[in-house]
Amino acid sequence: MAKQNNNQDMPNGHLHELFVDELRDILGAERQLLKGLKKMASAAESETLRAAFETHHVQTEGQIERLKEVFGSIGLAARGKKCKAMEGLLEEAEEIAESFQDQPEVIDAALISAAQKVEHYEIASYGCLVTFAKMMGHSEAEELLAATLAEEKDTDSLLTDIAMSEANAGAAM
Ligand SMILES: [Fe+2]
Repeated sequence: MAKQNNNQDMPNGHLHELFVDELRDILGAERQLLKGLKKMASAAESETLRAAFETHHVQTEGQIERLKEVFGSIGLAARGKKCKAMEGLLEEAEEIAESFQDQPEVIDAALISAAQKVEHYEIASYGCLVTFAKMMGHSEAEELLAATLAEEKDTDSLLTDIAMSEANAGAAM
């Protein structure tokens, strides 16, 4: 008999598995990002951008702690796994920083573009995780994940503000 895959019998167990897998991915991603943010901060030309990367570094440490709480709230030990997407995004960030290191008027625009790709990956991940937590009735996890999602969105807007106010203005000169 063909394998049934009706929505109505989509077992919570399978969604749970996916939820945990995605949690491990984003925990790995956040840990990888800590190193990336250090590099981006030291490559930044403007003080404002450097400060934004440093602030997000501190925020990321908090997000890692929050993820541990999420694992705890569903009775699991926090375990991350290597996030290949984050690895690729950070590799590109490094490449772009190297390519423009001699062009101080462009470097910040390049770093912001790389950092926003990272933020958008995180926004997509946390957005899905919030939905999964809601679907399974994990309200504590949902609340924690939504708090991080809001921080990632704020960081993304802050980067846009910096780009509009300084980096792109410099690059366009
Ligand atoms: Fe994050």
